[in-house]
Amino acid sequence: VSLPTRLALTTSRHVSADRRLHARRSAATWDAAYVDRARVSLSALRRDFDAVVVLEESRVRLADTDADIVFHPGMAYQRVKRIRRGETDPLVQVAGLRPGLRVLDATLGFGQDAIVAGACVGPTGHVLGLEASRPLAVFAALGLPSCQLPAEVRADTAARITVRHTEAVSWLTAHEDRFDVILLDPMFRIPKRSQPSFDVLRRFAWTAPLEDRLLRAALARAKTVVAKIGSVEALSELSVSPQLVRRSGAVTWARFRGGEWRWRCDSDGAGL
Ligand SMILES: C[S@@+](CC[C@H](N)C(=O)[O-])C[C@H]1O[C@@H](n2cnc3c(N)ncnc32)[C@H](O)[C@@H]1O
Repeated sequence: VSLPTRLALTTSRHVSADRRLHARRSAATWDAAYVDRARVSLSALRRDFDAVVVLEESRVRLADTDADIVFHPGMAYQRVKRIRRGETDPLVQVAGLRPGLRVLDATLGFGQDAIVAGACVGPTGHVLGLEASRPLAVFAALGLPSCQLPAEVRADTAARITVRHTEAVSWLTAHEDRFDVILLDPMFRIPKRSQPSFDVLRRFAWTAPLEDRLLRAALARAKTVVAKIGSVEALSELSVSPQLVRRSGAVTWARFRGGEWRWRCDSDGAGL
């Protein structure tokens, strides 16, 4: 899988010195080129880099040669509103999300599922998001803290999501961390119709579909793994059977029982 790597971080022309400093520091953190907008136009940047993340005073944009999008919670806005009204959400139901849980979103994307998870687990829980594409990781890491959510949810819900730029299988293999729930929503083999900003996501995304090695790596680190799949046929490519499958609109959610480390402890006689 080849991913674009030339990433610039800049600000819009008229921002505070604080915001400019934030952009400069973020560029160093995320290994992107910082470009001072006083010196160069956005169109020149869009031509010279694969992706440009632009910090405005209170919004974050991601631009490439074809598009220029603003970070926003998308469907997560309505979903958290509905959850607060007591309505069901397929992810929340299938994953059994509730306050206090530790959740890993191994395929963060625009962070919409992570926001829903964050609203459910609340301040006593935590959501960590992994994203293999650097432009998308930076867009989410800088966009989440300032994205507007309905008044019904805590103002820091999105800001509390921690973002790491890393590929999920490598991260899960290299880290011992355990989670209550791991979410897997890699790209579908056959793309479905989606929000227009997903065309941009597709251009930058890590394209490997749900594979056994990702599922198995997740099962070894979580009690529950929930995967979003394009169709039930995708399950036939996996060596593990789900506990539960729930179809909702164009997508299907599958829940797998994880906690292999606990089974290993049991068979070693060490107990739980
Ligand atoms: C379909 S999108 C996820 C959308 C996300 N659930 C949301 O609500 O915004 C898939 C994202 O996961 C990332 N991704 C796919 N496979 C990955 C992997 N193995 N490790 C880390 N990120 C991955 C892609 O780059 C893409 O941004």
